[in-house]
Amino acid sequence: MINEQQVRELVGALHDPFLHKTLAETNGIVEVTIKEEKEHVSVKIAVAKTGTPEQLNLQMEIVNVLKGAGAKSVGIRFTELDASVLEKFRGQATAAEAQGMLSPLNKTKFISIASGKGGVGKSTVSVNLAVALARQGKKVGLIDADIYGFSVPDMMGVQTMPVIKEDRIYPVERFGVKMISMGFFVENNAPVVWRGPMLGKVLDQFFRDVEWGELDYLLLDLPPGTGDVALDIHQMLPESYEIVVTTPHPTAAFVAARAGAMAIKTEHHILGVVENMSWFQSDVSGEKEYVFGKGGGPKLAEELRTELLAQIPLGQPDILEEDFAPSVYAKNHSTGQLYLEMAQKVIDALDQLDQEQ
Ligand SMILES: Nc1ncnc2c1ncn2[C@@H]1O[C@H](COP(=O)(O)OP(=O)(O)O)[C@@H](O)[C@H]1O
Ligand SMILES: [Mg+2]
Repeated sequence: MINEQQVRELVGALHDPFLHKTLAETNGIVEVTIKEEKEHVSVKIAVAKTGTPEQLNLQMEIVNVLKGAGAKSVGIRFTELDASVLEKFRGQATAAEAQGMLSPLNKTKFISIASGKGGVGKSTVSVNLAVALARQGKKVGLIDADIYGFSVPDMMGVQTMPVIKEDRIYPVERFGVKMISMGFFVENNAPVVWRGPMLGKVLDQFFRDVEWGELDYLLLDLPPGTGDVALDIHQMLPESYEIVVTTPHPTAAFVAARAGAMAIKTEHHILGVVENMSWFQSDVSGEKEYVFGKGGGPKLAEELRTELLAQIPLGQPDILEEDFAPSVYAKNHSTGQLYLEMAQKVIDALDQLDQEQ
């Protein structure tokens, strides 16, 4: 019968499916138990990510080497490596190794934009924050994940379609933002009736089959509310940061709090709150009118124990014929400036979180 040291040598030579390192190098063998009389070996293994097809392969490899060395039966339990250990390997990974949006080695930060209900400006905020982050020199992607209410291509004035080559989807690029939308895969703006499992698959494809290249940030314009899709995404992503959009009306903030509560429950960090349509400022008198009420943003930020990232007034972008995009504010527009400030706050907050890890 093999002994513990032999088990550690054999299993330790196998590779963590994501880290491109052996389990010996990752300290991935957590526990070895041997029952001599039953010729049974059980091991507890820590990997970068559990619940994947790659884990199943590793499981078979472990069974094979241990049975090959004389064990009659093998028991395996999996757990995930500590966040701090992962962070170390992420720091060392080359771009090639970190391939794949959902790889635990990927350095891209996911930022989802959520709201309690539709019509509060979630997509407007997603698009303009993405553009502002790109204007600040970041590599930015945007997924229009509002499967029923996709609107991002129109808002950005996108006229082209993504190119599909050898099973890879190449996102459309506008204002320095790489973007993909459900709207690209629907004919003639037809309504889409999705059943739960299909939805998850489509989103999974957006992560796996889209050629994003290297990104600093990938923004997701989530469907409103706390439905299946929002929940799916929260579970799919290794780690994500959330921005909650609300209007200034206190009841709107109340509804938005639910979306925030879900992020907390699924262990995603809330980055902050954006209050949209905060007021209307008259060009003539300069006076502010609080058309949709007052106080919702600060109240929600307090409730979620987070920051109020911005208050965005009512107002349309200037329509530029040569650079048409109905919902994108120019850099020198006063609202464009607010988005630049918001982007800088987001960058600083994420850098800060990085340093704390
Ligand atoms: N600050 C704003 N000022 C004026 N109109 C806005 C503002 N924010 C959003 N809108 C408009 O309100 C409508 C809803 O915004 P949208 O971003 O589509 O909301 P959601 O994605 O939450 O459904 C759109 O027509 C959009 O152009
Ligand atoms: Mg929308």
